[in-house]
Amino acid sequence: MSEEHWDRVYATKGRDDVSWYQAVPATSVRLVTAAIPATAAPRRVIDIGAGASTLADELLTRGYDVTVLDVAPSAVASVKARLDDRATYLITDLLEWQPETTYDVWHDRAVFHFLTDPTAQTAYVHLAARAVRAGGVVVLGTFAPDGPTACSGLPTARHDADSLAALFADYFELVSSERDEHTTPWGAVQPFTWVTLSRRP
Ligand SMILES: C[S@@+](CC[C@H](N)C(=O)[O-])C[C@H]1O[C@@H](n2cnc3c(N)ncnc32)[C@H](O)[C@@H]1O
Repeated sequence: MSEEHWDRVYATKGRDDVSWYQAVPATSVRLVTAAIPATAAPRRVIDIGAGASTLADELLTRGYDVTVLDVAPSAVASVKARLDDRATYLITDLLEWQPETTYDVWHDRAVFHFLTDPTAQTAYVHLAARAVRAGGVVVLGTFAPDGPTACSGLPTARHDADSLAALFADYFELVSSERDEHTTPWGAVQPFTWVTLSRRP
């Protein structure tokens, strides 16, 4: 999952010219706002591997404090061009990132499934456990067991709710799960598994 690969994707393709494009990230907005409703004191959300997604825009208008993290500088630049100083930006490989604060919500749509190596999956879980406060949540969307075996030319792992709950079990409890079917801009259907996991104290 190199920076070079992902940066080239966003530098050379239009926003709606990638399989994961969504005009509105409706499932993400629904799951984040249900798990941790907005309050007068802004809740802190980090969108892991945010790409050019408009989730940050949607959550900012609902009163959340949003941090956008991605390994691709061109992706982060496209979000920053829309939101400027309304959001916080981190350009880093998530597995090399050292969180300096904690978040109420860790959101990941279509990033975790690029981790096909169990060691990397475990490192991701440890990182999420460090970055999410007790009582906070991980909202995670990955390819489902009948989902694609590759995306953007890279192999993908596929998960159901039980396998995700087991992977996160040392630190997180499964709150809810659902199946969602994403339709790509060219009409292909991609089944996703979504889970909300709560960080144990
Ligand atoms: C399939 S796209 C999904 C983008 C976005 N979450 C969405 O739903 O539109 C995967 C994203 O993960 C980012 N990514 C991949 N590997 C990463 C890593 N190791 N660290 C941080 N970001 C990564 C890519 O740059 C890309 O933006």
